Amino acid sequence: MDDRRLRDEITPEPVYRRRHAIMRAAGVLPMIAMAGLVGCGAESAPVTSTPETPRETGASADAGVVPTPGYQEILTPFESVTSYNNFYEFSTDKEGVAKLAQGFKTSPWTLSVGGLVDKPQTFTVEDLDLRFNPEERVYRLRCVEGWSMVIPWQGFPISRILDAVVPKGDAKFLKFETVKRPDEMPGMRGFSPYSWPYVEGLTLDEARNPLATLATGLYGKPLLAQNGSPVRLVVPWKYGFKSIKSIVKIELVAQQPTSLWMAAAPSEYGFFANVNPEVSHPRWSQATERRIGETRRRPTLYLNGYTAAVGSLYAGMDLNKNY
Ligand code: MTE
Repeated sequence: MDDRRLRDEITPEPVYRRRHAIMRAAGVLPMIAMAGLVGCGAESAPVTSTPETPRETGASADAGVVPTPGYQEILTPFESVTSYNNFYEFSTDKEGVAKLAQGFKTSPWTLSVGGLVDKPQTFTVEDLDLRFNPEERVYRLRCVEGWSMVIPWQGFPISRILDAVVPKGDAKFLKFETVKRPDEMPGMRGFSPYSWPYVEGLTLDEARNPLATLATGLYGKPLLAQNGSPVRLVVPWKYGFKSIKSIVKIELVAQQPTSLWMAAAPSEYGFFANVNPEVSHPRWSQATERRIGETRRRPTLYLNGYTAAVGSLYAGMDLNKNY
């Protein structure tokens, strides 16, 4: 990682055309390496940057989010969203993912949805876009490592797919799987502490919540490989690792699935993984976060600010014990 270079940031999408200020990458992107054999690591030093003229996130798109008092909610530049990525199948170096993912074949692609459903189906990406009407959804993404972004996704609620496949009465969870292609994904080759494919899960009730999104685009264009092309999960009230990328399979199941992170580091990563500033990760605090492009850290909000939309899912549950 080159901590010293300067980077011009220009959002290419005409809809969001605007000139970005030069950001001092020395401050924007330094992260410490993995703190252990497995598991994400916390960020280290604070950063310096010159934020661009902000595009405010519209109230309608961000409905239900409590703004962090004293802080602006602005879209994270396209350049940062697409060049600073966690996608371990390619690399654990966030700045290296985009380049390594260039040869990743995302077309043709199918997503199969089956298991405990009455109407199992396999969708092409074109089907998803035609049948389920993606719309712009601006959400915060809060990584468990302590950084965050605000991203304008194109996506649709997973409930639309659930309505199409009709879950059976005994279906209680969704199990999501990323494609497993070591030939195209160098991070999967050789020794790896992870048990591939990347797996994640939600309860059926969580998946039916209107905020639970399957995204096929961001900034008005199809997802790039590094962001989980052609289809990924976006669950903005949970730590970013729940938002599984490049999904090929969703299974409705009766038992709680074991995610890749639960298997890799059970004492550090739980099933729910709801953003909670009160509950520290075993190796670092979750009380604050660094919005990519900003200098000072800001307080992290309970459920990432989405309590009004998803808080009722956890009524009666002690989230401090359900990391
Ligand atoms: N999905 C897969 N298949 N592999 C991964 O390594 N990383 C997760 C999540 N989804 C990951 C994944 C983590 S830790 C985060 S923070 C987000 O993707 C990052 O999404 P972004 O790179 O689009 O910002």
